[in-house]
Amino acid sequence: MTAAEVLAAYAPAAALSPDLPKRGRVHFRQDFTSLFEGEPLFMAPMAGVSDAAYRLMARAGGAALAYSEMVSCAGLHYGEKSWELVDPDPAEPDIAVQLFGSKPELFRESAERVTARLGDRLALIDINMACPVPKVTKKGEGSALLESPSLAADIVRACREGAPDVPVTVKIRRGRYMGQEVAPELARAMEDAGAAAVAVHGRFATQMYHGQADWGVIDRVADAVSVPVIASGDILSHDAARRVLAETGATAAMVARGTYGNPWVFSGHEATAAEKIAAFECHVRLLEATGAHLKRARSLAGWYFKGMPDAARWRNAAMSCVTAEEFLAVAAEVRAAVCS
Ligand SMILES: Cc1cc2nc3c(=O)[nH]c(=O)nc-3n(C[C@H](O)[C@H](O)[C@H](O)COP(=O)(O)O)c2cc1C
Repeated sequence: MTAAEVLAAYAPAAALSPDLPKRGRVHFRQDFTSLFEGEPLFMAPMAGVSDAAYRLMARAGGAALAYSEMVSCAGLHYGEKSWELVDPDPAEPDIAVQLFGSKPELFRESAERVTARLGDRLALIDINMACPVPKVTKKGEGSALLESPSLAADIVRACREGAPDVPVTVKIRRGRYMGQEVAPELARAMEDAGAAAVAVHGRFATQMYHGQADWGVIDRVADAVSVPVIASGDILSHDAARRVLAETGATAAMVARGTYGNPWVFSGHEATAAEKIAAFECHVRLLEATGAHLKRARSLAGWYFKGMPDAARWRNAAMSCVTAEEFLAVAAEVRAAVCS
């Protein structure tokens, strides 16, 4: 089965849409703004999570855009493996590709090659200036760039040179070190260098994912720039997404952890237990159709079955599954126990 066939067969029972929006490339000066019409909710980049199956579930749930996970420019330069993270499934209408690195020339090359490879299906190229993981920051990549505004600007310019027709955006945090907010100033410098939008995660890098995200910084960034601002951080429900759009200067909101087991977060639909089980089945079939490792369905089971009676038992049962059929057998057991 192709991913499109899986969606046609499985999405309706999960209250998800099998018909994904079709959109050509969002040209930098032409209709980039159309991406921000209404109350746009995007699926955030998530390393180890946001593969093609995950993005398809989010789009079927109503996400206006879905990101790849962060992809290393050096990885794209030196090998083939990283390209697997960039390539969308044929069923995906388009994709936002997030790049990370610290060398402008590698960003220029990656932007050019990603554009040539994805053509009209590339919605935008995003530059990761937010990742707090030491393995990344010690090489001057991710959130380390928050401390190097002139290098960060060179990187934006390099991507614009490599992909002149494609919107180039940046994803930043409040700042690198606790209490040292650089986001508004940095965002302005990135706009000056040619960034078409700025996504802001309202935590300092040293906070990792702890503490509460500060939505105030979204306003401060929105005051500093004239390009769209995409809010990120603790947008864990549809209500929270609507609130961040209503209460701050954000033009769009990005959901990361709130998508776990909840592709309906984008529409606000309150899924029933039967729909959650159907969504798990759809997701498992999408993993299979997109050639992903089925082991990924183990954490998905925990997320989709959360809150159901005997959830721990179903999660444990999924931990020993290997094939799609084994995962679907657990789903059938959950259905018999929960929906009878
Ligand atoms: C498992 C995981 C992986 C992530 N990977 C990335 C990534 O590759 N690139 C990125 O910019 N942010 C990444 N993030 C950060 C999210 O995109 C988002 O900014 C952050 O989780 C705050 O949003 P939330 O409160 O909705 O989770 C990741 C977050 C999580 C939980």
